Amino acid sequence: MRTPHPAVDKSIGGTPARELAATYGTPLFTIDLDVLDLEVDRLLTACAPREIAIGYAAKAFLCAALAEHLAATSLRLDVCSLGELVTAERGGFPAGRIYFHGCGKTDDELRAIVAGRVAFDVVDNVEELERLARLAAGGEPVAVMLRINTGIEAHTHAFIRTGGENTKFGFSLDHLPEIFERLAALPQLHLIGLHAHLGSQIAELAPFLANVDELAAAADLARGAGFRVAELICGGGIGVEERPNDPRPVDFDALAGALVARVAGRGYRLAIEPGRAVIARAGSSLYRVMAVKTQGHRRFVVVDGGMADNPRPITYGAHHPAEVMLAQATGPDEPATLAGRSCENDELGDYLLPRDLAAGDLIALRTTGAYTYSMASNYNRFGRPPVVFVRNGQHRRVVRGESPDDVMRLDIV
Ligand code: LLP
Repeated sequence: MRTPHPAVDKSIGGTPARELAATYGTPLFTIDLDVLDLEVDRLLTACAPREIAIGYAAKAFLCAALAEHLAATSLRLDVCSLGELVTAERGGFPAGRIYFHGCGKTDDELRAIVAGRVAFDVVDNVEELERLARLAAGGEPVAVMLRINTGIEAHTHAFIRTGGENTKFGFSLDHLPEIFERLAALPQLHLIGLHAHLGSQIAELAPFLANVDELAAAADLARGAGFRVAELICGGGIGVEERPNDPRPVDFDALAGALVARVAGRGYRLAIEPGRAVIARAGSSLYRVMAVKTQGHRRFVVVDGGMADNPRPITYGAHHPAEVMLAQATGPDEPATLAGRSCENDELGDYLLPRDLAAGDLIALRTTGAYTYSMASNYNRFGRPPVVFVRNGQHRRVVRGESPDDVMRLDIV
């Protein structure tokens, strides 16, 4: 099937895609550590001189090897489940830089917090406050932040918007006096800061600034009630570009500069909590073309992955740039729908792809580092793909792909 001189033969992280596909199979999820490190550096360059702490939101993507890699930076880690916490621990991520999120934490999760497996808990609701205080009784006080609903709406997809009045997260501003009173009666809990996250894939500065204004006002209230609130976490949500030639939607330096300017002289330390902005650009999903067909007036390029390994297009209408990585022949670009192999209208998106693309060729979806592998499922009982770290021509598998036996591992037969 292959000719010795393909028309397209591109690399991911310095290794030819055909070599990655031959070594690990497809679909394949890759993280380019050079790209990751560059984004971490960019964030640190913007934030460190302004004493803004950066917490990586593990939900975007985490495996033990990534936790180990990030442990060597100064980033903190936001986890929201025991699964994420255990992954971080297996990667040797220090407890003192981990903190816990979530609006429905289990007792097991609260016990892990009380046991000091994380630095602090971001408390979402009164029930959690009471439960945590009960579990902490008789031990060391537990450091907590309160998640605040600052009522700011960011213009992003409704499914990934978490701020705004009609959302489930955090304490509303008008409940705060009551909550502070309640907290004052719980000596087991020690309030160290406030947190507010607006949503994800935000492409403008204004909501972030309105958010920090509200956070600081809430923190002033807390101080008035006698708490020594030192830190404001302004959430994540920094958007990334979806199309190859789009500009970066949020400039890290402009964001960091504007945030500190808003609270200058008020004695608050700031932090941000990006997931996507850290990892999205470093990730690529590599697929093999299985079939090319024209039905009605549409041309479908069917690949060997889809909504099971990347549910973002069908869930949010998200777009990931597509790049032909290996093709025996090309021809002019023509419209094509990249179709996944799940047994329903599993479409990864509409693209312009070479006319002569054929079975056996390789296509990568780019900028898939965030919320693709972490949201992958076993739909159709497909195994999830392996995860490979690439850098400068080197590659290593850090998560195995799931075999049919792996998919069966929890069945009781
Ligand atoms: N902090 C909190 C409390 C969060 O809930 C999130 C994301 C982040 C930080 C990080 O947000 P980021 O910087 O990554 O935008 N599955 C969706 C995204 C959901 C985001 C959920 N929370 C997607 O695929 O676009």
